[in-house]
Amino acid sequence: MMPDMPNGCALELRKVVASYGGETVVKGIDLSVAPGEFVSLLGPSGCGKSTTLRLVAGLERPVSGEIIVNGRDLTRVPPNQREMGVVFQDYALFPHMNVARNVGYGLEMRRKSSAEIAERVSEMLEMVGLGDYRDRLPGELSGGQRQRVALARALATRPAVLLLDEPFAALDRHLRSRMQHELRRIQRLMSVATIFVTHDQEEALAMSDRIAVMSQGVLSDIGEPRRIYDDPASRFALDFIGGCSKLPVTVREIGETAIFCELKGHDTLLEVQRVLGFAPVVGQPARLALRSNQIRIRQAENPDENSCPVQVKDKVFLGTSTEYTFDMGGYPVEAVEPSSNRDIAISAKALACWSKKDGWLIAQD
Ligand SMILES: Nc1ncnc2c1ncn2[C@@H]1O[C@H](COP(=O)(O)OP(=O)(O)O)[C@@H](O)[C@H]1O
Ligand SMILES: [Mg+2]
Repeated sequence: MMPDMPNGCALELRKVVASYGGETVVKGIDLSVAPGEFVSLLGPSGCGKSTTLRLVAGLERPVSGEIIVNGRDLTRVPPNQREMGVVFQDYALFPHMNVARNVGYGLEMRRKSSAEIAERVSEMLEMVGLGDYRDRLPGELSGGQRQRVALARALATRPAVLLLDEPFAALDRHLRSRMQHELRRIQRLMSVATIFVTHDQEEALAMSDRIAVMSQGVLSDIGEPRRIYDDPASRFALDFIGGCSKLPVTVREIGETAIFCELKGHDTLLEVQRVLGFAPVVGQPARLALRSNQIRIRQAENPDENSCPVQVKDKVFLGTSTEYTFDMGGYPVEAVEPSSNRDIAISAKALACWSKKDGWLIAQD
């Protein structure tokens, strides 16, 4: 699952376990981040993302396991000696210090000369586009500007690893998207290994070199965004990343490379090649999970595809794409087609088709 990075990782977590009181919240995590790589830690609230980040920063102590940075075991090294740049959701800027002093704070702590601090602070403020704001107090800045200051401060000491905990959660949608681009630009420029915590799957898909999907203290999938979306390793990753329709089916035949199932009200058996998280049994109910981008609306059948006759119930023109809704086996299904394709009228009959390689058979729950 993980790319080979023999001795080449900037950061490595080895079987890291953490608990609060008697409760284990991080359950033996293995994660490597390559130099310059941007890895998102993605999962629902309470799954242990912040705790993992705090373990790396040294703000929490693991019960067991190791944290290695550039080949050096930092597990027992205090936070101020770890060379980490940290950005939290609430900025945590010093309210009584101006922007320049906030950015230079880490360098001051490291007793750098004032000439060096001044030069680095200017460089960092230029990089985040706040060269003209050096004398302002945090209270005199917008949310986006404060987050840029926090980023400049985290990077000013040239950390080995950059850690960000939901840094854009408080920003509005538009600003958030701008800051996402900005962060990637700066992160690439500095080529700093980064862990970015988020519960927002779109943010993780858009920004990451790799995503680590977290659920209840364990990583349930690690990989490139496209791979995780197209071929999730776990039922949790399938559900959490990208929505899908889950059609009720009955398992009719289990072959060597495929399973055939029946959708209520349809004669043709549907072929599925992937099963996630359960053992199908002939005659038993299950669900066929399909993503809306896997389904195409066609007029004619194709031997590599499953096809299902449907009647278009609704359509929504979204500009570059059009979203069609129809009924399959009594369940509403959506398909997104490029608007340049032939337009299909509401209540028209058509075929909903998808590749036999697409879709997953999952438990009924
Ligand atoms: N300081 C703490 N003391 C006790 N329990 C905590 C503390 N911080 C977090 N937890 C618990 O640990 C679990 C993981 O929390 P956290 O790492 O903050 O999750 P996330 O960042 O994914 O939302 C949650 O159940 C949370 O309630
Ligand atoms: Mg958190």
